[in-house]
Amino acid sequence: MRKIIIAGNWKMYKTIKDGQELVVALRRDLYQIENIDIVVCPPFTLLAYLADALETSNIKIGAQNVYWQEEGAFTGEVSSKMLLDVGCSYVIIGHSERRQFFGETNETVNKKIKAALKNGLIPIICVGETLVEREAGETFKVLEDHVRNGLVDISTDDALKIIIAYEPVWAIGTGRTASPQQAQEAHKYIRGLLVKIFNEDVASQIRIQYGGSVKPENTEELMKQPDVDGALVGGASLKADSFTEIVKKAGEVVK
Ligand code: 13P
Repeated sequence: MRKIIIAGNWKMYKTIKDGQELVVALRRDLYQIENIDIVVCPPFTLLAYLADALETSNIKIGAQNVYWQEEGAFTGEVSSKMLLDVGCSYVIIGHSERRQFFGETNETVNKKIKAALKNGLIPIICVGETLVEREAGETFKVLEDHVRNGLVDISTDDALKIIIAYEPVWAIGTGRTASPQQAQEAHKYIRGLLVKIFNEDVASQIRIQYGGSVKPENTEELMKQPDVDGALVGGASLKADSFTEIVKKAGEVVK
């Protein structure tokens, strides 16, 4: 049984005060939820404050990026050790916005995954095709490229700790969600790749989240899909009401 994991990617939104207000509301509304792993991923500037606000709660914290070196003259970067130090348990790696705007490649993704795992952070590894790639019939090819090359030289022991997020770029921030069938098809394909890269047993334990215009209204149908094990939520994670509802709806899904 794979436990459903719902994570909120706040992207570059919220001041310290706004973030604190949001997590106070989430903590109040979600304290009884035990069957879902809940994560919030705010910008770096909020991490220390939210770690305080969420101490001893059932909501964990993740960062949105990490550098692979432990320390050094790398102006503007933050290491896994620093993220652990500030209270993170998770880190998003290879988000399409980082691939698109900040030169992230499968190679840098792979280095970041290894650094995160070495330091005990759980990487949430994002993969997914653009609209042009989907329309050209290249979805599986892109997924194979992202998954195989992102996971080069990851041991089976480490593979058990990773989370993959399938985020079709055309569904991110567009209001155009992948249908449950499209999501299931991609997730099943990704799990098949994990069988080939690792083995059946490991692949059956790795959680694969869906991301791209997840809202309270589409959560249930998406989470019901056999290979969809959670959601990486952008816009709808910025408000307590919608994120709470997504977590609660996911918590009601019986597979
Ligand atoms: P939206 O939920 O706003 O489409 O964003 C998805 C996303 O990019 C999460 O990482």
